[in-house]
Amino acid sequence: MTHANFHAEAYDSGTLTKLKIFELYAQEWIPVFVSNPDPPFREIHLYDFFCGPGTDAAGVPGSPLRILGQLRKYQEKGMADWLKVRIVAHLSDQNERKIRRLAEILKAPEWQIPGVQIEAQAISFKNALQLHRNILTNPRAAKLLIIDQFGVDEVTDAIFKQLTTFPKTDFIFFLSSSTLHRFRTHPAIKIKIEKPEDSYDVHRAAFDWFQKLAPSGVFLGRFSIRKRSNIYGLIFGSQHPLGIHKFLQVAWSNDEIAGEANFDIERENIRPDELMLPMKEFRPQKIQVFESELEAELRAGAIRSETDLVRFCITAGMTCQHAKPVLQKLRAEGEIECEFHTPNVRNCSTPRPIRIRRFD
Ligand SMILES: C[S@@+](CC[C@H](N)C(=O)[O-])C[C@H]1O[C@@H](n2cnc3c(N)ncnc32)[C@H](O)[C@@H]1O
Repeated sequence: MTHANFHAEAYDSGTLTKLKIFELYAQEWIPVFVSNPDPPFREIHLYDFFCGPGTDAAGVPGSPLRILGQLRKYQEKGMADWLKVRIVAHLSDQNERKIRRLAEILKAPEWQIPGVQIEAQAISFKNALQLHRNILTNPRAAKLLIIDQFGVDEVTDAIFKQLTTFPKTDFIFFLSSSTLHRFRTHPAIKIKIEKPEDSYDVHRAAFDWFQKLAPSGVFLGRFSIRKRSNIYGLIFGSQHPLGIHKFLQVAWSNDEIAGEANFDIERENIRPDELMLPMKEFRPQKIQVFESELEAELRAGAIRSETDLVRFCITAGMTCQHAKPVLQKLRAEGEIECEFHTPNVRNCSTPRPIRIRRFD
């Protein structure tokens, strides 16, 4: 499929996985800002910078309708606090024809969502970043940025660094294979790619590259998508542990084996539906490695609080729930004492202690 006829055909399965991840993340993100009796921000802004016309050729909803659908679902729950927050969905694409088509779709009654302001605009990503810089740099407004670029040049290193400086902002961007090829030949990372023909290793290397560019305090996550013979990538960024944790929950809900791909990324050549043992009994390699590293760190006294533990989990690309079996084991052995079974990412400002018997 060429870029020119992307929306003249049906979305392929890889695109549908990508759209599902955008949608699931929006579903997780919205309640954080509107379900609280005392909402943390007066304004929230959801940006879809490469929104397209709203659907594919078969009428399957694209990213803008999925984001709006999540807002509508939440509004329909009748949350009393909904109207306390100004909610703006900014849908933009540089193609005027696609924006006109989207504007037509949005006239339907189903898209008149009380309390949600929708702005559809034909504008390039670069110009939109400039136009919205006051909102994007406003620390009193929460922002979600969906960056579904075709692929090559939009998220440059400079733009990536800019994204990481926007306060109270979570972002997800798509990397196409052409971008990944740029990483394949990048002198700084070429050496680390063990199997140069393997696009997945290139995505991992691209992720490492962005990790190096990101200032400390920014958490990144990734998800790889196989589209026919190519592998594409999503990169997620947030300054908040809760943001990255929610992304990891979405990633693990799409990939029970490694939490990072829609295919057997650890090359265990096994999918959850092919398992002889139930998922609970089968321990994928990534989980086994995580558990033994976590156990060693806890025994060594390197993790002393809930915050230490949450950071250990998210740095490893794991959710807090993954720490539970190790905590349970070490508590049963009397090695550690702590008040919780699973660390809570929301407790980072008032973390509960973990006492290590040999040290405390
Ligand atoms: C992969 S498609 C996005 C698909 C869309 N998210 C959906 O769900 O259907 C990329 C879109 O980016 C638009 N585009 C290409 N270059 C752009 C740019 N520099 N700024 C903004 N939009 C751009 C294209 O018109 C196209 O609609």
